[in-house]
Amino acid sequence: MSVVIEGVVEHGDARGRLLGFPTANLRLPGGPEHDGVWAARVLVPELGTWPATVSVGTRPTYYAADAVRLAEAHLLDFDGDLYERTIRVELLHLLREQVACATSAELVELIRDDVTRTRAQLAPN
Ligand SMILES: Cc1cc2nc3c(=O)[nH]c(=O)nc-3n(C[C@H](O)[C@H](O)[C@H](O)COP(=O)(O)O)c2cc1C
Repeated sequence: MSVVIEGVVEHGDARGRLLGFPTANLRLPGGPEHDGVWAARVLVPELGTWPATVSVGTRPTYYAADAVRLAEAHLLDFDGDLYERTIRVELLHLLREQVACATSAELVELIRDDVTRTRAQLAPN
């Protein structure tokens, strides 16, 4: 069974846009039980459903282990503003654990691969 997270999209620190992978961020109460990077589906009421690559956790590349836990959804082929909207995120396939990268460039390489794998996982047969 897949895990569903629902919440209001919050403002991030805009690094996602700098990295080339903008994300819709949801604050995630609770513990590390869903931590990791996921192939997912995101429902935006009144707009539609998008495949997404979703990162859940404390972002160890940039923050300490006791940092706030977020679900960050990068919607594939979506170009728009989701701030203040309620979205529904369905986590479908765990791709990997979040890791602490030495550089942002290294993280971008990983995310590129995550997106490729998401497209492969969610492609219709
Ligand atoms: C697909 C994906 C995978 C990610 N994987 C990691 C990771 O392994 N380690 C990490 O520290 N952050 C990871 N992140 C989180 C990025 O650090 C985060 O999106 C970036 O810092 C932008 O933050 P912002 O939305 O607050 O601007 C990932 C983000 C995405 C979208």
